[in-house]
Amino acid sequence: MRPSFILQLFSIVFAASTCLAQDKSVNPDINKSFQKPDVSTFAERFEREGREVYDHREEIIEACQLKPGMFVADIGAGTGLFTRMIAPRVTDRGQVIAVDIAKEFIEHVEKTCQEAGIKNVKGVICTSEATGLPDNSVDLAFICDTYHHFEFPYKTMRSIYRALKPDGQVVLVDFDRVEGKSSEWILNHLRAGKSTFVKEIELAGFEVAEERDFLATSYWIRFKKSNRKADSDHTTDSVDDVKRLLADGTAKLIDVREEGEWDAGHLAAADLVPLSMLRGLPAEQLKSKLADQLPKDKIIYCHCRSGGRVLAATSILEKLGYDIRPLALGYSALVDEGFQKAE
Ligand SMILES: C[S@@+](CC[C@H](N)C(=O)[O-])C[C@H]1O[C@@H](n2cnc3c(N)ncnc32)[C@H](O)[C@@H]1O
Repeated sequence: MRPSFILQLFSIVFAASTCLAQDKSVNPDINKSFQKPDVSTFAERFEREGREVYDHREEIIEACQLKPGMFVADIGAGTGLFTRMIAPRVTDRGQVIAVDIAKEFIEHVEKTCQEAGIKNVKGVICTSEATGLPDNSVDLAFICDTYHHFEFPYKTMRSIYRALKPDGQVVLVDFDRVEGKSSEWILNHLRAGKSTFVKEIELAGFEVAEERDFLATSYWIRFKKSNRKADSDHTTDSVDDVKRLLADGTAKLIDVREEGEWDAGHLAAADLVPLSMLRGLPAEQLKSKLADQLPKDKIIYCHCRSGGRVLAATSILEKLGYDIRPLALGYSALVDEGFQKAE
């Protein structure tokens, strides 16, 4: 078969699958009150005695171990309570990037910083899907009382992952939601508790590095980057994780076997991306070809016949910036695990 035909076939398969890919907000109403927020009302609500993270703000920031020169992103900066505390600690050698979906909050943070003579704060208005921060630019992403507002947690956390330097870290502070223990407000306001959020953040490429226990209704956790790989270099993600993330549109599955093998039988959920094609195209050409076809904001699981070729495909796609995760299980093993065969 001519290579141009293989490429055409590849394009068609991908075009069809990306159109079908669906992403839904995990909590569509959660940010309603932050559309055109009345900033003074929220400043009174966020910066008042009795709010646990306000009462413990010094301990929360102390535990972050900020140092002069650090670049810290305050994700979901709100009215700027923590941005203004972080700024002097990183000094003018460093910077706080106040990130929020609400323009009104960012304008307020910039104005209050200017009034207080704080010069090392920059505001960034982001989308609910991604922070938009430049790659490899941040030492610490600070997320207080905001993770539960993320409507697209994987996409937002991956945008944070990319923005973090290799030894960059995340500090997460959020309400713990415990059935039978938490207040009615917490039970109604949060979609899930600590273990779910930690699992989601781990799946986005992090691992827990430290946990502090000084808050009564919230938790403080530091994460560092993790490669989520076993000694064999295959992903440590479980089959159940893979199934769930494919089902909710967070992930895509590619089959890196060759066309003849694909024709003899393939998984309904997979797209064909032959390893020979990945190897055959020069990096720049491959990059622009895949740009329209392979989403950078999804986990890309890949399988082959028996777990060997996926490692070669991974090293190619990793260099192009994909969150590519090679499965040790090959085609037949995945069928045995309940993945549907294509008709
Ligand atoms: C409850 S407030 C917390 C504000 C601040 N961190 C504090 O603790 O005082 C949550 C903030 O997250 C922002 N937010 C919601 N979704 C976001 C997202 N995907 N990315 C960045 N900010 C977001 C909201 O606009 C709001 O300012």
